Amino acid sequence: MHDTIIVLDYGSQYSQLIARRVREANVYCELYSWRTPAAKILSHNPKGFILSGGPNSVYDEGAPTLPDYVLESGLPVLGICYGMQLLAHKLGGRVASSQAREYGRALLHLDSPDHPLFAHMPHSAEGLPVWMSHGDKVEALAPHFRPIAHSDNAPFAAAADEQRRYYTVQFHPEVVHTEQGTQLLSNFVHTICGCHADWTPANFIEEQVAAIRAQVGNGRVVLGLSGGVDSAVAAALIHRAIGDQLTSVFVDHGLLRWGEAEQVVDTFQDRFGMNLVAVNAIEEYLDMLAGITDPERKRKLIGEKFVRIFEREARKLGQIDFLAQGTIYPDVIESAAKDRPEAHTIKTHHNVGGLPDDMQFQLVEPLRWLFKDEVRRMGTALGLPDEIVWRQPFPGPGLAIRCLGEITWERLEKLRKADAIFTSELAAAGLLRWGTAQAFAVLLPVKSVGVMGDQRTYDEVVALRAVTTDDFMTADWARLDLDLLARVSRRIVNEVKGINRVTYDITSKPPGTIEWE
Ligand code: XMP
Repeated sequence: MHDTIIVLDYGSQYSQLIARRVREANVYCELYSWRTPAAKILSHNPKGFILSGGPNSVYDEGAPTLPDYVLESGLPVLGICYGMQLLAHKLGGRVASSQAREYGRALLHLDSPDHPLFAHMPHSAEGLPVWMSHGDKVEALAPHFRPIAHSDNAPFAAAADEQRRYYTVQFHPEVVHTEQGTQLLSNFVHTICGCHADWTPANFIEEQVAAIRAQVGNGRVVLGLSGGVDSAVAAALIHRAIGDQLTSVFVDHGLLRWGEAEQVVDTFQDRFGMNLVAVNAIEEYLDMLAGITDPERKRKLIGEKFVRIFEREARKLGQIDFLAQGTIYPDVIESAAKDRPEAHTIKTHHNVGGLPDDMQFQLVEPLRWLFKDEVRRMGTALGLPDEIVWRQPFPGPGLAIRCLGEITWERLEKLRKADAIFTSELAAAGLLRWGTAQAFAVLLPVKSVGVMGDQRTYDEVVALRAVTTDDFMTADWARLDLDLLARVSRRIVNEVKGINRVTYDITSKPPGTIEWE
C-alpha cells in the first residue's frame, strides 16, 4: 500500500488540482467529500490530511464542518483557504466574515523563511507570488498557532502549530499562479507527513498488472477501443497483464479524424500484437445518418448503433467474463458527487451503457484512480506513440457533430482534410500539445460565393475552432498567430476541393460551447 494523503473536499473549484499536485510530487492521494464516513477515509491509513477551500463561510447555517477523526488521528493537517478558516474556527481562533472578496495575485512575505513548509522555495525581498481567492479571513489565530508568512492584505497568510503539526495557508498553493505552490505541497507531504515518493508510472503499472491478473484469473476480457487516450492506455495496460485473454473491439464508424483508424490498427494489431477486432461499419453508419441534421438525434443514433455493433461482435467472441473500460478518476469523482457524496458510483461509459441484460460483465477499470495527465504518463511508459498519448479530447460522436447539416462521405472527407491541415500546422508550431486544449475544423452547412483564378466559385465554408481551457467547463478562444491562421486558410482553400472560405471562431464558453453542435 502506498503512503497516502487524503484531500477533504469542501467544494472549491480547485480541489481536484490539490490532488493532482500531490501526485505530481509522486505521492498517492485521494479526494473525498468532507462528509465521507470516517471508516472509509481511515481505511486508507493516511499519512496526512489536506482540507480544501470552499465557497462557504464558517458562519453559514449548515456550513461544512471538520470531522472529528481528522484531529483525533494526530496526523499532520494542511488547511487551505476555507480549510484554514475551519481549523481556526474549530481550535479557538477568530474568523472575520466579509462581503468583499480578495481575488487575484498577492505577494507573500515569509516571516519564517527557514520553516520546513517553505523549504527549497527561493524568495526575494519582493515576496513570492501567490493566488488569493477568499472572502472571510482569519483575524485572530487559535492558541498555539504562530504566523509564518504575511501578505499586504493578510497578516496571517500562513500560520502553523508545530507541536500538533497543523499548517494553514490563506492562499491557494495548488493553482499555477502560486508559482512555488507545488513545492510547498511537496514539502508538506514529504517532509512534514513523511511520505515516500513511490507513486510513479513504473510502480503503478507493476501493481495494476498484478491486480488485473488477480481479478481476471483465466477469464476473458473485451474492451471497446475508441482511438482516444483512455481506452488506448487501458488496452495497453491490460494487454501487458493478460496478453491474449484480452480482445479489443474497434468500430470504425467513418467519423474519425484523418489517419486515426489506420493508426489504431497499426499500433495495437501490428505493433502490440493484440487481439483486435476491427469492424468496418462505415456504410452502416452513413446509411443510418443519411438526411439527419439534428445534433441530438445524431448523438443518440450513433451511441445506440455502437452498442448494437459492440454487442454483435462481443457475442461472436464466445464466452466473455469481463468488460474493460477506460474510466478515469475525474469521472469517478464527478459521478460520486452527483449522487450521495459518500456513494461510490460507477459511471457507465457512454458508449457501452446500454448492453442487454443477458450480457452483464464484471468491470475491469484499471485507470479509475488516475488523472488525465497520469494516464498520459502511463501511456508513454507502456510504449504508446505520442500521437495517441497526446491526442486532444475527441467527442464520442466524432466528426458527426462537426459536420453541420447533412452527413455524407464526401463532406466528411472535406472536413477531415481541412482538420488535418489545421492541426498539422498547429503541431508544427508546437501548439497542439501545449497552447490549445482542443483545436479542430467544423464544416458549416452554408455555401458562399468566391473567386478563384477567373472563376466564380460557390462552395462550402469551414470554421476553425481552437480553445484554451483547464476543465472544458469554461473556455477561451485561443489567440492564434495571424500568420498561422493565414497559412491555414490559404492551404485549406487551395488543397481541399469544395471549400472556398475559412473563418475563425472567436467565441468563448460561455456563451458559446466548444463544439458547434
Ligand atoms: P462543449 O461543446 O459542451 O464540449 O463545450 C465540452 C467537451 O465535451 C466534448 N463533447 C462530447 N464528448 N460526447 C463526448 O464524448 C459528446 O456527445 C460530446 N459533446 C461534446 C467536447 O469535445 C469538449 O471536449
